[in-house]
Amino acid sequence: MNQDELKALVGQAALHYVTPGSIVGVGTGSTVDKFIDALAASGIAIEGAVSSSVRSTERMKALGIRIFEASQVESLPVYIDGADEIDHAGHMIKGGGAALTREKIVADLAAQFICIADESKLVNVLGRFPLPVEVIPMAAAQIARRFTAMGGDAQLRAGCVTDNGCHILDVRGLAINDPVGFEAEVSAWPGVVTVGVFARNKAAVCLLGTSAGVKTLSF
Ligand code: 5RP
Repeated sequence: MNQDELKALVGQAALHYVTPGSIVGVGTGSTVDKFIDALAASGIAIEGAVSSSVRSTERMKALGIRIFEASQVESLPVYIDGADEIDHAGHMIKGGGAALTREKIVADLAAQFICIADESKLVNVLGRFPLPVEVIPMAAAQIARRFTAMGGDAQLRAGCVTDNGCHILDVRGLAINDPVGFEAEVSAWPGVVTVGVFARNKAAVCLLGTSAGVKTLSF
């Protein structure tokens, strides 16, 4: 199976976590696109979705799924999203699609984060994938220097303005051995909007697409 087929497989498998009549938290990316398509085709009557990006909102609206603002709900049963990397404890790197801030906000409303990913995303230590960090533009250079001091190399993502009007630094060369501590530390730096380590609120379940089928990892 190729990567696209593995993404479709886990997108379909995620339907198991969707309760009819509920509002579902929906992430962003090519794997989530497969989930959105599967959801629309499934006939499961949900009340609607809270979306983490303009991209997912447009896709869901086009398929007739009602969109709620995050401010309209107090909680969600599940948040379903992809990841750029996930470790064996459910900590993730996210933000390859630049939607990390809204993803963290919507995920925080949910009782369970269901991660859908193909097997290439499973790692022992986070950091091989360049870590996305959303920053206030005027702080980008000083935040980049802080990453240099940590042994990383932070580059501004060219031409990228997020849904929130901010910029993305992609940081290479980090081995994130303590994801919870790292997330807390970087989140406290002035000018950081969101760091793409999702560790405090990690995945509860990962549906991993493998050539042998969907593997369910529970954390
Ligand atoms: C977007 C994300 C995505 O979940 C992540 O980039 C994975 O994307 P894909 O499913 O296309 O591999 O964090 O900000």
